[in-house]
Amino acid sequence: MGRKVTKAIFPVAGLGTRFLPATKSIPKEILSLVDKPLIQYAIDEARAAGIKEFIFVTSRGKGALEDYFDHAHELESNLKKAGKDKLLDILRQTNMDSGAIAYIRQHKALGLGHAVWCARRLLSDDEPFAVVLTDDVIQGEPPCLQQMIEAYGETGGSMVATMEVPSDKVSAYGVLDVAEDMGAIVRAKGMVEKPKAGTQPSNLAVIGRYILAPTVMRNLNKLKQGAGGEIQLTDAIAEEIEEGRDVFGLRFRGQRFDCGSKAGFLQATVAFGLERDELKDEFSEYLHQVMAMRKAAE
Ligand code: G1P
Repeated sequence: MGRKVTKAIFPVAGLGTRFLPATKSIPKEILSLVDKPLIQYAIDEARAAGIKEFIFVTSRGKGALEDYFDHAHELESNLKKAGKDKLLDILRQTNMDSGAIAYIRQHKALGLGHAVWCARRLLSDDEPFAVVLTDDVIQGEPPCLQQMIEAYGETGGSMVATMEVPSDKVSAYGVLDVAEDMGAIVRAKGMVEKPKAGTQPSNLAVIGRYILAPTVMRNLNKLKQGAGGEIQLTDAIAEEIEEGRDVFGLRFRGQRFDCGSKAGFLQATVAFGLERDELKDEFSEYLHQVMAMRKAAE
């Protein structure tokens, strides 16, 4: 049985250059699907999974992200006075407990493993922790991280979220080498970051949700460079396996969107738009019209 996981690390130091010019003055994590910033989706998922402490690994130019988590007292009191209870409620749901958030700077972009390592002093030596990548937005019930916490309760060790991806896409991911396939859960015998095309041990890609044993942080202490010259989280997890500790993958139930890419971001916008009661009729009618018009024009 694993120990309770109450802290999550959110590496948010990336520059988001793929979304320029939008990200010229706002962090990409504030970009919104319908009306909710990517970071809020990640926070809501972590909260649902029982996370109590939120550690953001940030960098220059991410001030708006810190402001986002401040209580908006003036706005709240204006909404209250105007009797806009629904909006007030939406706003209040974004409020975090005082002291629940910590910000750490990653001074150099040395890779995901390095970003996670920057948070090491905020964790005790024997404490498992979660890592959530905000680019990966997952629509799932229960939310993905909660599914993982439940599975981890049975397995212990370390656990990554995983899904099958096509062979021509697998080189963009961390990939599992499977020792034992138990259906929803697989036991890994290896993990490789961004394998060259044709060399992948499987098509099971790592998606940005992790529950990690404290020893993974110790592995990161070595700050070894891996794929692309970066310090890779994948390598520190693979080291667990080499040292005889368990690493599992969970085939989560749900739909994952790669919001680090424009196509994925647009797909997520459509999916989350169609999920909203107040939008779905008008929006789906519009989508049908667009498709019909495109077909007619062919
Ligand atoms: C990161 C991880 C990779 C993982 C991916 C999931 O890669 O390094 O192992 O598969 O996130 O989105 P990145 O997308 O930052 O290149």
